[in-house]
Amino acid sequence: MAVQISPSILNADFARLADVAAQVEGAADWLHVDVMDNHFVPNLTIGVPVVESLAKATTLPLDCHLMIEDPDRWAPAFVEAGAGSVTIHAEAARAPVRTLREIRKAGARAGFALNPATPVQDYEDLLGEIDMLLVMTVEPGFGGQSFLEIMLPKIRRARELIRKNGGEIWLQVDGGVSAATIERCAEAGADVFVAGNAVYGSGDPAQAVRDLRDVAGR
Ligand code: DX5
Ligand code: ZN
Repeated sequence: MAVQISPSILNADFARLADVAAQVEGAADWLHVDVMDNHFVPNLTIGVPVVESLAKATTLPLDCHLMIEDPDRWAPAFVEAGAGSVTIHAEAARAPVRTLREIRKAGARAGFALNPATPVQDYEDLLGEIDMLLVMTVEPGFGGQSFLEIMLPKIRRARELIRKNGGEIWLQVDGGVSAATIERCAEAGADVFVAGNAVYGSGDPAQAVRDLRDVAGR
């Protein structure tokens, strides 16, 4: 299971997104873009036009995390805008199977996210439609929150379900991932790590990515 790091730009300088991306090019595997609509979560960030511009401005593939109502309507537009991976939330999608298929058909990896209170075992039958499962390790909405330790058993359960169903699905964690928490996430079975504060809150984002990868790969 190769470790992948996806730095979140949520708390970076939105006036300099191309530079923010360039800071981790060559070190990171993805750039994590948090799309929020002030309905699904109490915060409002960026939409399709910014993703379209950012996709042209960086060599990193974009990992778009849609924290929005009606992801069914919007997900394909993010693929068209240039995202390499589009993740929709179980709690928001009305027709997740159709939407996950549309994401794949449009040419991106299909991600499926679970809020902390959403049980992973409810979605076992959907695993064949998913390229990446995202277990949220904070309540979504803001960067810089503390990692929820109570999610570790769920990460383990998710890894076990993935293994049982063939094992090709990536398992992402997002929220409070840092040098202090990433090792336990990796031990529990996660292989794709989103980190906002731990990367962009540090003086040297590229080095922070390398450090996270080292600790996770131990
Ligand atoms: C939270 C977002 C995360 C967040 C991570 O709702 O989905 O991607 O930016 O930031 P940190 O790593 O600071 O918790
Ligand atoms: Zn996110």
